[in-house]
Parts: sequence; structure tokens; C-alpha cells
Amino acid sequence: MNILVTGGAGFIGSHTVVALVEAGYQPVILDNFSNSEKSVLVGINQITGRTIPCYEGDCNEATLVRSILEKESIQGVIHFAAYKAVGESMEQPLKYYRNNLGSLLVLLEEMEKVGIHQLIFSSSCTVYGEPEHLPVTEQTPVQKAMSVYGNTKQIGEEILRDVVAAQTPFKIIALRYFNPVGAHPSALIGELPRGVPNNLIPFVTQTAAGIRKELTVFGSDYATADGSCIRDYIHVMDLAEAHVAALHKLGQLQERSFYDEVNVGTGVGNSVLEIVESFQEISKVPLPYKIGDRRSGDIPQIYADVQKSEAFLGWKASRSLKDSLQDAWRWQQKLAARS
Ligand code: WQD
Repeated sequence: MNILVTGGAGFIGSHTVVALVEAGYQPVILDNFSNSEKSVLVGINQITGRTIPCYEGDCNEATLVRSILEKESIQGVIHFAAYKAVGESMEQPLKYYRNNLGSLLVLLEEMEKVGIHQLIFSSSCTVYGEPEHLPVTEQTPVQKAMSVYGNTKQIGEEILRDVVAAQTPFKIIALRYFNPVGAHPSALIGELPRGVPNNLIPFVTQTAAGIRKELTVFGSDYATADGSCIRDYIHVMDLAEAHVAALHKLGQLQERSFYDEVNVGTGVGNSVLEIVESFQEISKVPLPYKIGDRRSGDIPQIYADVQKSEAFLGWKASRSLKDSLQDAWRWQQKLAARS
């Protein structure tokens, strides 16, 4: 089955392409490389032993999207392509609404024209805002987005829900990711943050590698056991395999049209200070850090209720936090060796 993976050269996209090949699918990548590098394709091809077709271009280009859908006989789509920097989204809202929502609309319109109706949408736990109860289930109320980025995910879900409610024959699953971390164990692909990393794990590994002077823990006065924020860190290969499980599920559905959301996490919350401690244990490398001020927009804690992903997708995360940190560190050391 030929699957179009938009943003397939990105962090989660590239690992999902590997998981798709391992599951017997034939992925095709569309990526504009605005947040990735061509070296990722080399890594994917080395891991899979195949040359994965890749089109360089933008999902907002309807003619390009249409030609790929037809030329590659696409039967399903996984849509990763989007900007995802929370802070940048607040500074450049139009760029984010145009790109993240525009690309989704173009994709849906061109899929409809060609008669392709299976779609996996990349959503985020950020739609829950600061939840009242934990762990969060898919019924946890969606709250007003705390960022433009988060709003593009919420509006994206609403667009998909409305399209299916109109009885168009789309079958769609929106996967609400928690915090993707780690790298493929081969260290041939992994996270490639641009500039100073916003996210915790790449900042940790760059600090351990001596690229950053020290980690700042953004706040230790939260109402958590050790005062630092808690998140649900999921290995990117587990996340990739969840996409394969969701695609398989779409193929089994008897409904003419279908839409649903599924949390994709481990169900376990870890604090920033626990990450610091665990990383030093697995890497045997001291991690210089200091406690700094809270980061605006951060919520104290969030982690997933994973019952629905297990029951509906028949999937559950199998890799531990230790696996994630070991693979992230191995990837960072490989990057350092490359540069
Ligand atoms: C995790 C924790 C920080 C860096 C974001 C997006 C979310 C999703 C995943 C796209 C927080 C703390 C971080 C540092 C720190 N992105 N931290 N020092 O904010 O949970 O989620 O990335 O889908 O939408 O919001 O992830 O890795 O930035 O932060 O103390 O140098 O680590 O305060 O508590 P976050 P993160």
C-alpha cells in the first residue's frame, strides 16, 4: 500500500517512514526541507535498504500534491508537514495559520479529487492546555490553545471533524502526541533541532556534548513532587509504530466515513529533574544545570491515559525512558562525530 508521508524528512516523519517500510508499506515522502536536511534521506535509505521516493516541495502547492497522489498511486496519507515552534508561532501567527491550515486544506481537497480518503493527522497534547485531571483521556476537554501553534492543531481537528460530519467518505484518525524524544537505535536518523533547542532532550544532549554550557531547568516551584514540570516522554520509534497501527486500523474500518482522536503517549509522567538524573545515570556524563525562572506558557504537568490507544489501535509504547535517553545520547554523539 503506497502511503504519502508529508513532512517525511522531519523528526517524527523520518522515523515513521522507517516503521512503514518495516510493516510492509511503500512510503513516499513530500517535504520542503524547511525544518530538515537531505542527509535524513540517506539515513532512511541506509536503515531500510531501499531508496524511498522523495519529492521536494510544499504541501500548499495543490498541483504538486495532486500529481504525487496520482503518479504514486497513493492509497493513504500521513500528514506531518507543519511548523511546530511554539514561541515562533506567537511571533508569526499568519505564517503558522497559512502553512499549517493551508496545507491541510490543500491536502484534503486534492485527496477528495483523486478519491483517496484515508488520513492520519499529526495533532498534539497541547490541545488539552492545562488539564484539571490527570492522566488526560481523549474526553478531557480541549481548552483554548495557549499558542498559535496549538490553535492550528485544534482548528485542524475541527476541520477534519466537520469534513467527516458532512458525510464525505474520509476515514481519519488524529493522533495527539505527547513529547516525542530519542532517535532510531542505529543513530542514522534522529532529531535535528535548528539553532538553540527549545525542547528539553536535545538541550540536555547538546549540554552533555559540550555544545551548550549548561541546562536551565525552567522552574522548580511547581506543585509537583520535586517542583519541576512533568511530561510524558515517548520514544519516537514507539510514536512511529503508533502511526502504522493507526493506518492499519483505518484499513479495517467498515464505516463509510470516520473521524476520531487518540492520545499517543506512554502513560508515564517524568519531571525535568528526573530526566536530568536519569540522563546522567545512562550517559555517565555530568550534566551542568541550574534552576531558572519558569518558562511562560509551560503547564505544571501532563501525561496520557493510554487505554484508548491500546484498545482501539491495539498499540502500546514498548520502549522505556532509559531507551529514549540512551538513543538520544547515541545520536548526539554520532552528530558530534559528523561535524
Ligand atoms: C519539556 C519540559 C520545560 C527546555 C513542546 C510543545 C508541544 C510539542 C512538544 C510539538 C518543560 C522544560 C525545556 C529547557 C527546561 N511540540 N525545559 N529547560 O513544552 O512540553 O512541549 O514540545 O508538537 O506542542 O509545546 O516540551 O521539551 O519544550 O519542555 O526546563 O531548556 O522541559 O519547561 O517543562 P513541551 P519541551
